[in-house]
Amino acid sequence: MATSTSQQLDGRSALVTGGGRGIGRGISMILASRGAEVCVSDIDMAGAEQVAAEINEGGGNAFAAGGNVTDLESISEVAQNAIDKFGKLDICVPNAGVLGGSDFMSRKDYNDRDWDLTWDVNVRGVVNTCDAVVGHMTERKYGKIVIIASHGGREPRGVPDAGRGNVQGPYMVSKAAAIQWTHWLAMNVGQFNINVNAVCPGRLWTPMWQAIAQNHKELNPELADMSIRDIFELQIKGTMPLGREQTPEDIGRVVSFLASDDASEITGQALNVNGGAIMN
Ligand SMILES: NC(=O)c1ccc[n+]([C@@H]2O[C@H](COP(=O)([O-])OP(=O)(O)OC[C@H]3O[C@@H](n4cnc5c(N)ncnc54)[C@H](O)[C@@H]3O)[C@@H](O)[C@H]2O)c1
Repeated sequence: MATSTSQQLDGRSALVTGGGRGIGRGISMILASRGAEVCVSDIDMAGAEQVAAEINEGGGNAFAAGGNVTDLESISEVAQNAIDKFGKLDICVPNAGVLGGSDFMSRKDYNDRDWDLTWDVNVRGVVNTCDAVVGHMTERKYGKIVIIASHGGREPRGVPDAGRGNVQGPYMVSKAAAIQWTHWLAMNVGQFNINVNAVCPGRLWTPMWQAIAQNHKELNPELADMSIRDIFELQIKGTMPLGREQTPEDIGRVVSFLASDDASEITGQALNVNGGAIMN
């Protein structure tokens, strides 16, 4: 009996939003390495094209698509494109996310723009992406949706205390909403053999955490002489029992498991992949 899991997703097709860099790139690469065909979608088309090219150069099968998750029509077009190209869509990973407004780094307090953006991308964007694929998955009575939330949606935590500023408030609330959406959708589409789960990453050195570390540096005078990478490592050492950061590929491997039939009895769950920083 074959025991290899390397082709766990052979014959499956996947859509990953925000696939052009960071965690979305790692997820796309891992899904492809496990045999899935991947539509790498991102509002940043150049990033999506680069990731799709890397997958194809490595012998996988991917194509790049634009797509703004805040616009149902836009992300529905991407999903339809993937269905047309692959003949079906088995896996959907709503991963695209934002921290807040672009001047987030230098601010202590949130503003309306942070609330609007995190709602539009992290909540409505996730809902739109699910809405774009659920009809197709319902018809086929098969689907795996893996939403990328955050352990911050469970419990905001950090060392030194990021709570000296409120700027991350909207982000944390949006991620809690994404987890609740996971529960709600799982309850409604389980009857169609669609599994809906969330992965809650901890801390990864992507542009998103680089912005958070910069924010910590600007808010906390005692961190002024540290590099943003050292601030990030301080957070890791101070909060993670495993004492190390997560990588995009770590997240991709867990997404791959939840998207596989090995996880067919798991639905409505939010799984922390955070080195044990928050244990619930
Ligand atoms: N980095 C971390 O430590 C961390 C921790 C927990 C959760 N997360 C979550 O993981 C996901 C990916 O994070 P990341 O660190 O790779 O972030 P990132 O900022 O590096 O990448 C986000 C990607 O999403 C894309 N995007 C943004 N708005 C979009 C839109 N409207 N439509 C389509 N694409 C859009 C961006 O172009 C970018 O490619 C996010 O949902 C984030 O909240 C990250």
